[in-house]
Amino acid sequence: MRQAGRYLPEFRELRKSHGFFEICRTPELATEITLQPIRRYSGLLDASIIFSDILVVPQAMGMVVEMHDGAGPVFPEPLAAPGDLDLKRLRDKVDVDKELGYVFDAITMTRKGLKGEVPLIGFCGAPWTLLAYMVGSSKSMPSPKQWIFKYPEESKRLLSRITIVCADFLVGQIKAGAQLLQVFDSNAGDLSPHDFATFSLPYLKEIASSVRTQLSSHSPPIPIPPMTLFAKGANHALPELVDAGYDTLGLDWVISPQAAIAATGGPSTKVALQGNIDPSILYGGRDAIEREVKRMCEGFKSGGSEGRCKGWIANLGHGITPGVDPADMQWFLECVHKYSS
Ligand code: CP3
Repeated sequence: MRQAGRYLPEFRELRKSHGFFEICRTPELATEITLQPIRRYSGLLDASIIFSDILVVPQAMGMVVEMHDGAGPVFPEPLAAPGDLDLKRLRDKVDVDKELGYVFDAITMTRKGLKGEVPLIGFCGAPWTLLAYMVGSSKSMPSPKQWIFKYPEESKRLLSRITIVCADFLVGQIKAGAQLLQVFDSNAGDLSPHDFATFSLPYLKEIASSVRTQLSSHSPPIPIPPMTLFAKGANHALPELVDAGYDTLGLDWVISPQAAIAATGGPSTKVALQGNIDPSILYGGRDAIEREVKRMCEGFKSGGSEGRCKGWIANLGHGITPGVDPADMQWFLECVHKYSS
């Protein structure tokens, strides 16, 4: 997951003739790419994640986002000052069915294409991470953090607006057939503990609670799916994240399994853990991959003095990068099966 397709030749081949957001907006193409790793690693993966991007939410709000080869995402007109929040181009109310219906269509089509082989994960970016992209960087405002320090109240207004779209978007993904949800706060680690508690955590909690309320008050009620939160770089906040309304916490690799188990309340905790091997291990050759996978599995299975964790989903601590050899990826998956069984 997480920009994972980039290392697969079959993805690159399709990308030669299609733009990134064109693929996101074309359910047949998004379905095909979602299925690629499931086919290639048949029997080795336990879930798929819909091909899309966290930046479809800023687009739905009215912003222009381009994906430049080699440079990643570009916002040609970032929000430069609080006055920009009133710009006509930034929609205040977003009808997710209208603006993001193409993601819902891709999810429904992918569910059919998966034929029950593995469940399908829907996702969105966290409000803080999305704000950081939306205010971008310009000469007058070189860091997204300047926004929260200079304009704290307007930043909170923007975060609340993004939160509503994210929650509605996740609910729509469940209605369309997604079976799990994941929220990516990839830029959480840019914030100090105090700023994370002020500008990220309340909105993460609001998303979880709004999704739960909307699904349970739907007629007929829709079962609440497992929800995962990945707050990269915010391990300092793990004790509070246990109560943020998510079932699983994704971990980056700069915390040991033992420390993560201890920080989240040991075996009697509410949350399962997901992670957390350093994705660079995939460049380390087969012996290193096997050695480190074994270490990760033992860490989560034994847990040390705190006892083992409640539940664990083996994963990388962040995304796969483009230079990874797909055969080494397969070896990684085989090692996970060997040492976690
Ligand atoms: O893994 C998958 O293919 C599933 C779909 C998915 C993508 N992006 C596709 C993608 C998911 C779950 C994401 C999440 C995403 N997107 C995050 C959160 C996870 C993380 O990595 O922290 C973030 C921050 C983004 C924003 C984004 N999209 C960036 C920074 C980039 C550029 C990456 C780079 O270094 O080039 C993207 C592009 C992107 N999103 C690609 C894919 C397959 C590669 C782009 C391409 O084909 O040109």
